[in-house]
Amino acid sequence: MVGRTESLQNITMSGGGAYSLATKGAEDVINAATQIVLEALDSINISKNQDLFTFSDMGTADGGTSLKMVEKLIHSLQKIAPEININIVYADQPKNDFNGLVQTVLGLGHFSSYLDSTENVFPLFSANSFYKQILPDNTLDFGFSATAMHWLSAKPCDISHHVHMVGAQGEEYQRFSDHGKKDWESILLHRARELRSGGQLVLVNFCRDENGKYLGNTTGVNMFNNFADIWQDFLDQGQIREDEYQNMTLPQYYNTVEEFSAPLKNVENPVYQAGLRLKQIETHITACPFAEDFKEHRDTKRFAKEYIPTIRSWNESIFFGALDPQRPLEERQQIIHDYYQTYQNQVMASPEIHRWITFTHSLSLKKSNTDL
Ligand SMILES: C[S@@+](CC[C@H](N)C(=O)[O-])C[C@H]1O[C@@H](n2cnc3c(N)ncnc32)[C@H](O)[C@@H]1O
Repeated sequence: MVGRTESLQNITMSGGGAYSLATKGAEDVINAATQIVLEALDSINISKNQDLFTFSDMGTADGGTSLKMVEKLIHSLQKIAPEININIVYADQPKNDFNGLVQTVLGLGHFSSYLDSTENVFPLFSANSFYKQILPDNTLDFGFSATAMHWLSAKPCDISHHVHMVGAQGEEYQRFSDHGKKDWESILLHRARELRSGGQLVLVNFCRDENGKYLGNTTGVNMFNNFADIWQDFLDQGQIREDEYQNMTLPQYYNTVEEFSAPLKNVENPVYQAGLRLKQIETHITACPFAEDFKEHRDTKRFAKEYIPTIRSWNESIFFGALDPQRPLEERQQIIHDYYQTYQNQVMASPEIHRWITFTHSLSLKKSNTDL
């Protein structure tokens, strides 16, 4: 039995709806997965008179990037069962900006909401991590998550000469890999309990693809090597200290197809035995929206100013958290400002080699009670 408490991670996306404004690429990933979501919905046995359907977006951030997808799901569902009540459970870890999430979903922030044009839809908000059970046993009809489940439940160790597991080696790599495996199984086991029999999951996760490519590693600059190189320069120039350099390790793991599939294929694995079945796994590559726009406008400054906030929206809290809390706040803020400014200057100097091309695996799963 997993305990009720989990150590709080220092993970926060940009707040106040800024995450969705800056992270157009993440919305593109969700919009591209909408077809898979609607196909999975089609495969659920829903009767015309069904009175309740529960959907959850897990690791939702401010909820802005999934608004369009959720709206399409609601419309498809209400075509089958016009009177159905729909719970939309938005879940994220406790440090998420829940005020921003509520504002976005209720249409009080930067975006209009599907709630203005739908009926019998009930948004609910949960601060339970996906490393815990979010919904009661056998109550979830459809679980969804996009670009969230690469965040680990904890940092397995500091990585000596890099900031991300894609640059880890030897024993350090192995510790991330072991931790990633345990975490992935934990995520799936909790979902297996929550799902009703016949319920569906669509999980769109950052990954390493068949050719070893991943977010930020296509052509040109490897984004994660660049993060590490600038951090190393800051150490060499005395802007940060050795302990701060070491502290900066992103608690993330990018699975391969084999790693994602393993607990769903091995008949002895508790995930398989809990009834979760892998229907489909596909690799998707989504273009960098800022680089695509840049091809048209050719404004280097604009490209750099749009590109950096998308990176900053998800990793600033980890860089900031690596700095010694004894340093005055303004000093820490200045270091972080200079860090992203350095990156921005590099993007302005050579815009053609910086890209936010995402590699995701879309997994479509079901809970089955027939082939156990
Ligand atoms: C890159 S954002 C993705 C947000 C949104 N799903 C999207 O695709 O635009 C990753 C999200 O995962 C959340 N997250 C990280 N660890 C989590 C956990 N253990 N449980 C729930 N959410 C988590 C973060 O707080 C963040 O909101």
